[in-house]
Amino acid sequence: MGANLFYGVQKVYELDSGTGRKSSSGGSETVRRLHPDLLHAIEKDMAIVVPMKGERLKLLWGVLYGIPHNCLIIAISNSERAPIDRYQIEVDSIDRYCHYTRKTIVMVHQRDPAIAEALRDGGYPELLDEEGLVRDGKAEGMIAATLLAKAMGRKYIGFIDADNYFPGSVHEYVRLYAAGFAMKQSDLSMVRIAWHSKPKIVESRLFFAKYGRTSVITNHFLNTLLGTYTGFETEVIRTGNAGEHAMTMDLAMTLGYASGYAIEPYHLIYMLERFGGISQDLDSDTIRRHVEVFQIESRNPHLHEGKGEEHVERMIFSALQVIYHSPVAPQSLKEEILEELRRRGSLGKNEELPRRTYYPALSKVNMDVFVKRLENEKYAVHFENGSTPGKRRKKGTRTKTRK
Ligand code: GDD
Ligand code: MG
Repeated sequence: MGANLFYGVQKVYELDSGTGRKSSSGGSETVRRLHPDLLHAIEKDMAIVVPMKGERLKLLWGVLYGIPHNCLIIAISNSERAPIDRYQIEVDSIDRYCHYTRKTIVMVHQRDPAIAEALRDGGYPELLDEEGLVRDGKAEGMIAATLLAKAMGRKYIGFIDADNYFPGSVHEYVRLYAAGFAMKQSDLSMVRIAWHSKPKIVESRLFFAKYGRTSVITNHFLNTLLGTYTGFETEVIRTGNAGEHAMTMDLAMTLGYASGYAIEPYHLIYMLERFGGISQDLDSDTIRRHVEVFQIESRNPHLHEGKGEEHVERMIFSALQVIYHSPVAPQSLKEEILEELRRRGSLGKNEELPRRTYYPALSKVNMDVFVKRLENEKYAVHFENGSTPGKRRKKGTRTKTRK
């Protein structure tokens, strides 16, 4: 679609293809071997952001077990501070974990006034609410953490939810991010995980569902949108709601974002609007640079905390809001979306579908000011030119967390 290259789902044939042979070169091959050293090297340049809000510590630890050691972890929490200071419990727990593993974990609270000040003075007040703090929401935490990862000089940024039951799947997701980046041709690349399956209990037996309930709907509408422009019905989009995704930092700084759980479907909508060549002609530089979207299917099943029916309906609602309000959505699709939401009981008969909050691209942030405002924070040692000038923290040194 214009300057976007959406690849069909790619599959994994070996989780570890051994060290004996070099990576294969790509070219005309349909199966590629990626040497573990290549993947480890990419992981060294990657920050993994773990957004969390009130998750059980056992689950959080499981996620931390799974993230490869080379990655810088940025845990951004929006957990409550009163009456029980859940955030402090998380900080203590992560500190203990770092003590065992010497892993580098930066921990921040989404409502930390220091982050808010850095955003305001750095020229990104859109993320702040009337109290002058970062707004609530998963996307809002992810956006703030993206800027921290940028300040820490990371080339890649990946996201992993904190409520995953299987450390092995977390490990695989990060490996797949690295695999995508090992195959990329463009600096504007994204890797989205298509889960192999989601286990559920149906009539007392384990059932491995292929698609999540939200994804089925989001993918359908995104594919219908693509089909409208290509004239061919398609199922190419399998990862409309991919909470587990990663980007090159260049792409993360280029994209616009939507609030809350709409962030992932909006990536694709934004790419269509900006790089799809639909409403505006593309210049030759954009076409040359192009955007690549890898969708890679994990071999591990995905099992996370159930958050209830209403939560699923809210996620569907958010995803459809951003598709509906896109200038590239044709009238017929808009009507189909309204019909779907009314059928689900999420929208009244004559009610209009409200717009979500959108955030501009992060490229407008003055990074020097952003970093300067945070120079007294403990995690400033990880900034690219932080308090250890010109150096990154050495491997194996004690991790600092912000309290
Ligand atoms: N920092 C922060 N701030 N984290 C949050 C917030 C917030 O306001 N709200 C939720 N989170 C964290 C949760 O603790 C969890 O780790 C992660 O964000 C995902 O939230 P869930 O509530 O578990 O969402 P989900 O599992 O239903 O949906 C996930 O998968 C979808 C794909 O099916 C999300 O990643 C969606 O964005 C994704 O579309
Ligand atoms: Mg979840």
